[in-house]
Amino acid sequence: MAPKIAIVYYSLYGHIGSLAKSVAKGVTAAGGAADLFQIPETLSADVLQKMHAPPRDTTIPDITPEKLAEYDGFLLGIPTRYGNNVAQWRQFWDQTGGLWAKGALHGKFAGIFVSTGTMGGGQEVTALSTISTLAHHGIVYVPLGYKNTFPQFADVNVVRGGSAWGAGTFAAADGSRQVSDVEHTVAEIQGKTFYETLAKHQF
Ligand SMILES: Cc1cc2nc3c(=O)[nH]c(=O)nc-3n(C[C@H](O)[C@H](O)[C@H](O)COP(=O)(O)O)c2cc1C
Repeated sequence: MAPKIAIVYYSLYGHIGSLAKSVAKGVTAAGGAADLFQIPETLSADVLQKMHAPPRDTTIPDITPEKLAEYDGFLLGIPTRYGNNVAQWRQFWDQTGGLWAKGALHGKFAGIFVSTGTMGGGQEVTALSTISTLAHHGIVYVPLGYKNTFPQFADVNVVRGGSAWGAGTFAAADGSRQVSDVEHTVAEIQGKTFYETLAKHQF
């Protein structure tokens, strides 16, 4: 059977949401299909207003922990907070104890894509620190690597987020920068690479 893939992300200002759509395109280009989900918001409307958050994308459903068990692989979209994971993602993982106790996610696969405000803002650390949670669940981390991304990653004349750890974008300190063409391309490559990696296995 074809691997069942969920793209699960949190995005306050839309950058990760935009990358997620390109990751999904890549999965489709490889012959697969992916369902998109959002991590539920935990901040109050008052705080969101103070953070100048735009309205949430209501076209993408929120995920529940139990839903994860229905998929073979996950592509996780995570914006950086203080060089680390966003709290909404942590709160979600903290509700997966029941799944952990049953080993329900053991042997599944996950890739990670990220967004920071700035260069050096913590893209790789955000991915790296997420792997600890994957390890505890027994989820196999699938890096993006360089094999399919070398032309994009070797070009140091272009400002671009992302690394061997996964696709990424720079939102700029004030959130004004949009996901660039090359960042969208790398996100698509990640979706495609992830699907092709999983398709080598039996489900
Ligand atoms: C509380 C807070 C902490 C942040 N910490 C960092 C940081 O450590 N490094 C960085 O480059 N950007 C940081 N940012 C910027 C976010 O990473 C940026 O807004 C996000 O990647 C945009 O993605 P989104 O549009 O999908 O929400 C921070 C933003 C907030 C609100």
